Amino acid sequence: MNYFNYQNDHLYCEAVPVARIAEEVGTPFYLYSNATLTRHFQAMDDAFADLPHLTCFAVKSCANLAVLNIFAKLGGGADIVSGGELYRVMKAGIDPARIVYSGVGKTTAEIEMALTAGILMFNVESPQELETIQGVATALGRTAPISLRVNPDVDPKTHAYISTGLAKNKFGVPMEEAELLYKQAASMPNIAIRGLSCHIGSQLTEMSPFLESLRKMKGFMTRLAAANIKISHLDLGGGLGIRYDEEEPPHPTAYAAAIKEELGDLDCTLVLEPGRVIVGNAGILVTRVLYTKASPLKKFIVADAGMNDLGRPSLYGAFHAIQPVHREGTATAKADLVGPICETGDFLARDRELPLAKGGDLLAIMSAGAYGFSMSSNYNSRPRVAEVLVSGSRFQVVRARETYESMVQGESIPAWPETIAR
Ligand code: LLP
Repeated sequence: MNYFNYQNDHLYCEAVPVARIAEEVGTPFYLYSNATLTRHFQAMDDAFADLPHLTCFAVKSCANLAVLNIFAKLGGGADIVSGGELYRVMKAGIDPARIVYSGVGKTTAEIEMALTAGILMFNVESPQELETIQGVATALGRTAPISLRVNPDVDPKTHAYISTGLAKNKFGVPMEEAELLYKQAASMPNIAIRGLSCHIGSQLTEMSPFLESLRKMKGFMTRLAAANIKISHLDLGGGLGIRYDEEEPPHPTAYAAAIKEELGDLDCTLVLEPGRVIVGNAGILVTRVLYTKASPLKKFIVADAGMNDLGRPSLYGAFHAIQPVHREGTATAKADLVGPICETGDFLARDRELPLAKGGDLLAIMSAGAYGFSMSSNYNSRPRVAEVLVSGSRFQVVRARETYESMVQGESIPAWPETIAR
């Protein structure tokens, strides 16, 4: 359930009309609902309330400080994948002892930063990374808490680009090799084994891949215990899907119930890394229609938001519902909703029944809270859009729209002879 609803045919975010924000802030902009973010975080967190657990929000899905701060206040942790994300979560007030650090390419500088901050654990993805962490920890005179991210070789039945737990994917350590690596880790003086992790993919709409992976993890933990390697934290990653269109993913309560049943009485703290299921339906992208046009074959609605603002449709062929901000009748027409970017791949919806929109109308691109703003770019030299947070009847711009000036900040023209005008 989310808090984007119509009142007298006008779309509201909680108690604020979306059109009013558009008037004040301009378009396009991302709009997040505090009540929805809170509700979704709690739905996930409460579902595991009877177990020792940590809900580590996957920062990559939506990294705005204001959003992260909401989860910090709710007692959430973070799943990070870069020094930049570590910087953000610390600034947002998330307790470092609740941070897990995943990713195949952690640099020495990033490892130093995380070790100094005192994170819960590094989810190590290769033998070479483990060596590097041992080296950095020695240099800093510290002990690095680690977990190995194993690759359980399970098909998550989702888009190929966001499947991560298949043997052919770049992520994790194959289970067959992980036992030896744990033994090596146990002998390293500056490494402390804390966890076992996996993450098999994103936008999963069925329980079975999660459970298959969990079964493999449990079996593996038994083997580790026999080798005297004790795991205190079992990290199951993220990946629970949401409804964009007609999907029917399990509710967090059903997800948790199935996991708990499979888990049995395993004696360890469960770590969860949900991203999309918390923020996906808690955010929308609001855009204004600039023009409509037609070719002999098609109708086009040209909006002021494009693939640089929301890349998911172009990248993954993803579906996002399109809703009018002011509902005038229910007439629709088959059309493409496209942006101003100079590429045919720049579309937000293709060959879809869309609201009959004309120049000046506002449209809401729904379910855009996850991997929306966080994947946006300056392509075509378009300043990144504003982000706005609503709470009840208030709203605040929580990231200012970039200006042309801020967009070129950091660029310079060298004063070399060859660059001086002839
Ligand atoms: N943990 C790890 C290690 C991950 O790699 C991810 C997502 C998550 C947790 C969170 O997964 P979630 O709960 O959000 O499914 N850009 C793509 C999604 C990429 C997901 C990458 N990893 C999209 O827009 O669909």
